[in-house]
Formats: sequence, structure tokens, C-alpha cells
Amino acid sequence: MTLSNAHARMLSALPERLRAAASQRFSEREEALREHLAALYGADPALDAWFSTLMETIGRLHGQRPAALHALDAARSAEPGWFTRQSMLGYSAYVPQFGGTLRGVIGRIEHLRELGVTYLHLLPFLRPRAGENDGGFAVASFDEVDPALGSTDDLLALTAALREAGISLCSDLVLNHVADDHPWALGAAAGDPALRQFFHIFPDQSVPERYEQVLGQVFPQAAPGNFTYVDAVQGWVWTTFYPFQWDLNYANPAVLGEMVLALLRLANRGVEVFRLDSTAFLWKREGSSCMNQPEAHQLLQVIRALVDIAAPGVLLKAEAIVPTRALPAYFGSGAQRECHLAYHSTLMTAGWAALAEQDTALLQAVIDATPALPPEASWLTYVRCHDDIGWNVLRAEAGDDARLASIARFYADGDSFAAGVAFQTSGTRAVHGTNGSAAALAGIETAINAEQRELGVRRLLLLYALALSFGGLPVLYMGDELGMQNDHTYLLDASRAHDTRWVQRAPFDERLFAERADASAVTGELYRRLGELIAARRRLPALAADAPRSVLAAADPALLALARGERFLSLSNFSGLPLVVSLAALQAGAWPGYADQVVLQPWAMLWLER
Ligand code: GLC
Repeated sequence: MTLSNAHARMLSALPERLRAAASQRFSEREEALREHLAALYGADPALDAWFSTLMETIGRLHGQRPAALHALDAARSAEPGWFTRQSMLGYSAYVPQFGGTLRGVIGRIEHLRELGVTYLHLLPFLRPRAGENDGGFAVASFDEVDPALGSTDDLLALTAALREAGISLCSDLVLNHVADDHPWALGAAAGDPALRQFFHIFPDQSVPERYEQVLGQVFPQAAPGNFTYVDAVQGWVWTTFYPFQWDLNYANPAVLGEMVLALLRLANRGVEVFRLDSTAFLWKREGSSCMNQPEAHQLLQVIRALVDIAAPGVLLKAEAIVPTRALPAYFGSGAQRECHLAYHSTLMTAGWAALAEQDTALLQAVIDATPALPPEASWLTYVRCHDDIGWNVLRAEAGDDARLASIARFYADGDSFAAGVAFQTSGTRAVHGTNGSAAALAGIETAINAEQRELGVRRLLLLYALALSFGGLPVLYMGDELGMQNDHTYLLDASRAHDTRWVQRAPFDERLFAERADASAVTGELYRRLGELIAARRRLPALAADAPRSVLAAADPALLALARGERFLSLSNFSGLPLVVSLAALQAGAWPGYADQVVLQPWAMLWLER
């Protein structure tokens, strides 16, 4: 059999011992890869030469992978569903807030082990734009660690220490844009014609205005519009997020190639999971929202195939904050695999909506609309993260914006148990997002007595119990385990004051950390009960990501009865009143230790096993 040029060049870059396996992985994927590339980039004769060169570089990177990572690749290939186990638990944190530096994070491994964490998502730690940089999401170099956080050697030390502790490091890979001081942007501004093609640049506003008629806005207040006039390039640059974040032009294959290589270089430094930031936005099509386009999925399928060839132990995670119906596509379809993991953002949002409405209808609608996953894939479940809760993703389930607007107000207007802060409203009647730490939104922060504190703890545990039992990889947001509260000091920093997301990005609270074993403190109480849920989950195979799930029909709208197979049932009372649940009425059968009627206290949850 004659090998294609791309295949042969990849093999030529590999040492003998790696060739056979890599060759097989390439053969299995070559046809699909070529189909996707032809669909994306047309019948350009230069494409074949480009692809061959890319595969040679990818082969070289595969060959350079350290022995420890080849061993990890082999172990993971032998058990491709390893990350769907119920023993997987995630944690997400900013490096400065959590450990000060990458080395400082090593000092936190003990805490992660105590919690049972096996997966650590560190928010962006690569060299960011100088000045304002959206918490590191404006990347100036994919190959350098932010000097304020450490060096490449520190990253290597951290990934080695985490591997040793059985923790996989997840890093953001900001695919959609680069900072305006990334060398590609600087080159484009200096007039380099090839680098201008890395971006979407328009000489005047006529085309941008046509796009704008249909485009949404991510930051309508702080960064209105999707285009920015940049003097240096003498044109309008596509900037979906902040004006200093220039969207990349994936209609140019060079962009795709560069990003894949950046990913693989980081993978060779020990990053095991990539959070593919803003995946929904990668492909622009006039007349559309420019989100979730079929080409964005083809791009992700190309990235997946190339990662499977060159770093087969590595996982991809989609950050697509989109309606429920648009989420499953990020796992791929049939043999065309995309991401291993995807944020279940509507489940998270609907959980908070249920707390506000004391009604689980939206939550149940989201769960009903959540299809079974392909093999070796998992939702990422969570309660809070570094971003706002964007209520708009629930439009399909909620039916009308007035309902979502009232939920948003519940969290931010000061009349409820929640101490939230509004985010980016585009008008008084529009639905805004909500910021705030989990403890603040659940009512622990506003509690003025022991009884209210207990209710706040229950609300927080209600949502974490859902994330832990739904079926997925649950990720704790740093500080939630301690009940960390809002931090308003960002208002004193001019580069942050306009972005209320900073309210939930406080430094790790050493004082609360010291109280985590103190039964008389609210932190101690929360930490113990959360730890019990985590421990229970770990020993229950019914809670693995790929085990079956069903919602039992309940008469009371405040009740969520979530069954996982025949042997596990979670009952959650999303209301401030006690609830009497009849197991017979739920047709749930008998559960050892329980009579037919189970009483759930306000906001309480209960896990039944048999
Ligand atoms: C993702 C990040 C968010 C950031 C945006 C732009 O949504 O989670 O924090 O602002 O991408 O990079």
C-alpha cells in the first residue's frame, strides 16, 4: 500500500518505536480529516502540501512527547472511558488567587487530595496581554507562561507533581481570539499580508453592519458591538469579546494549523485536558448568529483527530455556553468525535433558576432535553465558575424573557436571600447575567442567624448534590467548598471595576480554610457535608457519568426526584417549606430504611441507595 505524502512525512519525523501505532491512528482518521479539510477550505491545490507539512510537524511533536506522557497515552488508550468514572472530581481556580504562582499551586495539592480532586482546571496562565486582559483570556503567547506566575520549568514541575498525585491538569486554550499584542496581531498591524489573513479585517463598516443585524453581544455594556476600529490596521477588526481580543479567522487553514501545534506543544508540557474556550464562535457566516455553525464542528473534529493521533491521552472540553439543544453536537456525531467533555451550562443555570422559583420545571425540562451521550464522553457539571450565570441560555425552556428577567432580578436586586450582582444588562427590561460566589447566591452571605445560615448551606448543597449525582464530571469552583463570599475589592481597580465577574474571583480565604474542620463554624459544617456527598458518590457506580438517568414524575413542583438506574434515587426539595414525599406515589419502589413517606426539610436533599 502506498502511503499518502502526509502520512509518509509524519512517519519520517517519528522514531522507529512510535511509527506503527501512530501510523495506524493516522490511517483510521485520514479519510475523515481530508473530507473535513476539503469541506472547510475547498479544493485548493496548496492544501495538500500544507497538510503534509503540518503532519510532519505533528509527527515531530509526537516524537518529542516525554516518556511519562507516552505512558499516560498508553494507559488511557487502554481505558478510553477513564474520565467517566464516578471517582473523578474537578476543581477550578485562578493561579494568583489559589496559589500565587504555579509553584504555589503545588503547595495546594494537599488540599485537593483531601477533597478527592482528580482534575484541576487552572484558568489562563499563559503570557497575557500587557494591561487589561480579561483575566488572562487575552493571550499574547501560547508558548510562554505568564512571568508573574512562573516559568515553563515551573509548569513542568507542576504537571509532574499533579500527575504524581493522580490529578490531571486542564488548561484553557483560547481558540477564538488572541490579544492585540500577540505577535500575529502586531504583525497584522505592521502590514504583514499573511498575518492580516489571520483575522477578520474590514476596510469600512458596511460588511460589519450587515453582520451586526443578526449577531448577539457578549458584553453589551463593557464592550458593545462585535467590531473595533483599529488605527494600526486601518480597518474594523472582528472582536466578539473585548476590543483587545481579536477573533481568529478559521477560514484560513494556517490559523487552524497554528492552534493545533500550540495545543500539542502544551500537551507535551503535561497539560492533559484542554478547555476549548468560546468554541461556539469559531466560524462566521453572514446572516447567522455566527455561533454553533457546522464548520465550527468540523474544525473541532479536525482538532480531535489530530490530537488523537499525536497525544491520544489528551482530553478536549468544549466551553460552549449555548442552549441545551445546541450542546450535544459538541461531542460529535457517530464516528466523528469532537470533545470528550462539554459544560452542561443549562443544567447549572436551571439549578439556580429552580432555587429562585422554588419550582423545578425548568430543571426538569433541561434534564428531559439532555440526550444520552456517545460512549467515552461526559458532561462537565458545575454550580459556579469564574463567569456569570447567563440566563439567556434557558430561553427555549423558559418560553419568555420576562420569566428569566425575574429570576435575574431575584439574584441581584437585594430583596431575596441572594447577594448577587447584575452583569452586562443591555437595558432595564433585558435579561442580565448574574455574578456572585455560590455562598453569596445561596444565601449564606446574607444570613444573620444560625437558622438562616443552615438554610444557605442546604441550598448550596442542593445544587452541589445535583452536580455530583447528575452523571458527569463535577467541578468545584475554588472556595465554594469553604463557602467563600463575594469580594468587592475589584471596584477599586480601574482595570476591573467595569466587569462584575471579579466579585467571584477572590483570593483563597486562609481564614475559612483554617475553619474547615471546625464544627461550630458554617465553613466547617459545609465542608463536612460536602465531603460526605463526595465520598458517597465515589463508592456508587450508579453515579458514573455513563450510567442511566431518569427523572421520576412528582406531584409537587418543588421536588426533583432523580434516579440513576434502579439502585440510586436523589430527592431534592427546592422550596422553603418542608415537603412530604411519598415513594409509592413516585413509583420508586421500596428503599431499605425508609417508610413510604419521607419528609424533606426546607431546601434539603436526600440520597437513597439499595
Ligand atoms: C470564555 C471565558 C470568559 C472569557 C471569554 C472570552 O467565555 O470563560 O471568562 O471572558 O471566554 O475569552
